[in-house]
Amino acid sequence: MSAVAPTVALVTGASAGLGREYAHALAARGHDLVLVARRADRLAALAQELRDRYRVEVEVCVADLATDDGCAHCCATVVDREVDVAVLNAGFGSLGPFAAADAAWETAMVRLNCVSVVELTRAVLPGMIGRGRGAVLIVSSAAAWHPVPYMATYGATKAFELHFVQALAEELRETGVQVSAVCPGPTATEFSDVLETAGRTSGSGWPKWMPIDGAADVVATSLRGLDRGRVVIPTGRIAWCTRLWSRLMPRGAGVRAVGVVHRRRSRGRRAAGIGHGD
Ligand SMILES: NC(=O)c1ccc[n+]([C@@H]2O[C@H](COP(=O)([O-])OP(=O)(O)OC[C@H]3O[C@@H](n4cnc5c(N)ncnc54)[C@H](OP(=O)(O)O)[C@@H]3O)[C@@H](O)[C@H]2O)c1
Repeated sequence: MSAVAPTVALVTGASAGLGREYAHALAARGHDLVLVARRADRLAALAQELRDRYRVEVEVCVADLATDDGCAHCCATVVDREVDVAVLNAGFGSLGPFAAADAAWETAMVRLNCVSVVELTRAVLPGMIGRGRGAVLIVSSAAAWHPVPYMATYGATKAFELHFVQALAEELRETGVQVSAVCPGPTATEFSDVLETAGRTSGSGWPKWMPIDGAADVVATSLRGLDRGRVVIPTGRIAWCTRLWSRLMPRGAGVRAVGVVHRRRSRGRRAAGIGHGD
């Protein structure tokens, strides 16, 4: 059972991967939905599928959350909707040496992964506090545990989300509003394809030995964690192991070891002749 009464749920990044699974899981719980992403065709198809399958109301909000206009449009859509569950999931990353990165890509990542999360949380929280109920679930990452060389901007955005959630959870004690961060390990979504679009990696991007979790499992685990009032919800073996490891290892040694793994990942692009010179 959901921790909150089934009313309106907001899901950003609903056109693919984890967001699509959150939309299904929340509709199955009886929530009406507001779905946000840039790809209108995918959102429209998903909205119809959810209406047909779960008999819920679904509104589509096509917005680029890495832009001021997109964020403003999304905030205006949700501010009067009595959103009781907000899953702030839209996000992307990049892989490779930062000095060779596309500056526009990196700054758009910060806008999407950090600024839009702040703006949307600020838009929905007052209503939740006023009603004395609600939940904000922010999709961070196992990359939040410590700095990530070769994914420097991405790791920092995910650490921002984790700190933001932990601070808010303390502020919101006794309000009836739950704020949680889910920290998935590697998960089978379009995330790696988008890394490839950034032009700084090739192939799946994940080392062959790494266990990859299914998106549906990550979503089920995170909603269970939310129902139980957990503030930080690691999902999958990699997330649990790296969390423990980041607590046990001295910071400097940990960052060097993470750098070795990600340097190898980013070398895949050299072998394929992809990306900027470095
Ligand atoms: N997959 C993993 O291994 C993994 C691990 C840890 C954490 N995560 C986190 O999980 C979250 C979801 O990622 P995913 O793995 O499900 O990746 P995904 O399959 O690539 O989905 C990303 C979603 O974000 C949306 N999005 C991207 N840029 C956007 C923008 N500018 N404005 C609005 N929406 C935008 C995409 O929709 P449009 O392209 O249609 O806009 C898509 O719906 C991210 O925050 C990611 O950091 C993923």
